[in-house]
Amino acid sequence: MDYDDAKEKIKQILTKNKEKSVQQVVDFLQSNFELYSWVGIYVVKHNMLYLGPWQGDQATEHSKIPIGQGICGAAAKTGKTEIVSDVHSDNRYLSCFISTRSEIVVPIKKNSKTIGEIDIDSDTKDAFTKEDDLFLKEIADMLSEHIHNQ
Ligand code: SME
Repeated sequence: MDYDDAKEKIKQILTKNKEKSVQQVVDFLQSNFELYSWVGIYVVKHNMLYLGPWQGDQATEHSKIPIGQGICGAAAKTGKTEIVSDVHSDNRYLSCFISTRSEIVVPIKKNSKTIGEIDIDSDTKDAFTKEDDLFLKEIADMLSEHIHNQ
């Protein structure tokens, strides 16, 4: 799907501001972008990441990740996007699904503080580009006010 069309659609989902709107955004991303095999939101609480809404074939055993561990924990610690083109060659990687080949994690910030992140696993190697990073940063900004970590 075209990034601009997706941004417009996601804006509409969030304008309705329903309780389920973050889940709907996750579902939308997972079903409209072929390479986004599994999409989840982690929320930062007390130096840990807790899994929130997600969509994909399987649940992950990593529903709770300490800040600093794994690709997710690294992005939460630095506040910077992590793109891993081949998860098998990154020793920080916490394995969730046997089919995963690459991963992107984009922090969600409120007042410059990381309050959560968008985590996407792809079954395709090298699936994520700078464009995905820019696109997902905009989605992270839109999601920010809908994420509650207190
Ligand atoms: N692979 C992640 C863990 C979360 S699962 O991908 C859903 C990591 O290395 O932090």
